[in-house]
Amino acid sequence: MILVTGGAGFIGSNFVLDWLAQSDEPVLNLDALTYAGNLANLASLHGNSRHVFVHGDIGDRALVDQLLSTHQPRAILHFAAESHVDRSIHGPGAFMKTNVEGTFNLLEAARAYWGTLQGDAKANFRFHHVSTDEVYGSLKPKDPPFAETNPYEPNSPYSASKAASDHLVRAWHHTYGLPVLTTNCSNNYGPYHFPEKLIPLMIVNALAGKPLPVYGDGQQIRDWLYVKDHCSGIRAVLAGGRLGETYNIGGWNEMANIDIVKTVCALLDELRPDPAGPYARLITYVTDRPGHDRRYAIDARKIERELGWRPAETFATGIRKTVQWYLSNAEWVANVQSGAYKDWLAANYQAR
Ligand code: NAD
Ligand code: TYD
Repeated sequence: MILVTGGAGFIGSNFVLDWLAQSDEPVLNLDALTYAGNLANLASLHGNSRHVFVHGDIGDRALVDQLLSTHQPRAILHFAAESHVDRSIHGPGAFMKTNVEGTFNLLEAARAYWGTLQGDAKANFRFHHVSTDEVYGSLKPKDPPFAETNPYEPNSPYSASKAASDHLVRAWHHTYGLPVLTTNCSNNYGPYHFPEKLIPLMIVNALAGKPLPVYGDGQQIRDWLYVKDHCSGIRAVLAGGRLGETYNIGGWNEMANIDIVKTVCALLDELRPDPAGPYARLITYVTDRPGHDRRYAIDARKIERELGWRPAETFATGIRKTVQWYLSNAEWVANVQSGAYKDWLAANYQAR
């Protein structure tokens, strides 16, 4: 079996669902169920004996040791993290705790477990670390996209904590020989995306007739990848990636935030027209995020060259599926908009 950490979050749950749809190999899913973890994402797996869920913290060494020795996974796929830049600005402590200390703890547990393996089990074991393009910092308009050889220049507490975890993973390979793989991916979007992030926030606010808060001038650029393409990229690297290597995963799709928001509005105008008028009327420019990175872009040629991976979705097809998913899953949306979610909206947006 494989051990997935953070498998109740946005990308982790998509990964678990895709994995179990394509493989007979069971998944052990360790998740602390923070505000971002949601068992409703995994509701379709109810009664599926190939999915074993454990509610726990990656920082709990005794628990991780016990899970590894009991279930003997052939790989660890490490998604668990605090993942939201704005939250890292309001409270960086949790990011250091989970992303840095939690990854350290997992690496130490993996190293001890791997040391007990022999023969093929030892040779085939993998520790796959899921990371972000944000570790590379911010690009100028004409800079080439991020390659795996770019220096690390993280600018937010979130990206600094992910950069730190990437360095730990690298060091555990070089020093102890732990068989690691790291993937650095661009901004994901798709089903089960928590509505604190740009795309789902715009969809749920628009449907509620609320302002669509665009930070600064809205000209910040991100590369956007449909989440299922990220999952297929991870599977490709897990299956064939070279040990100790890092692979960038991206969608070849750079877009300015304001154009993302306008695309979402246009799709909603088509699929769920509002009698009050076009959704773009709700676009509201608000105070920028401190230290806001201007541009991210990914050079994904290495994973294509070595492993033959390319995204299956274009932004046009992926965003249409995403908006349709949110329109068809109003109950999921209502359930995640709990009291804690409202507290976050007040903390992040009231003073802008
Ligand atoms: P998310 O915030 O939606 O989910 C994170 C999950 O981790 C949640 O289920 C949460 O409960 C769990 N978790 C948090 N702390 C934990 C702990 N201490 N122990 C166990 N579980 C814990 O995040 P996501 O967007 O799904 O991102 C998953 C991974 O992918 C992260 O490592 C993130 O850095 C990386 N990533 C995300 C994106 C993106 O666009 N969202 C892009 C590139 C890389
Ligand atoms: P986000 O989804 O938080 O991802 P990240 O910061 O990791 O790239 O934000 C994507 C972009 O959208 C980023 O440039 C910030 C911007 N943004 C807004 O303009 N308004 C918002 O309300 C949010 C959440 C993000």
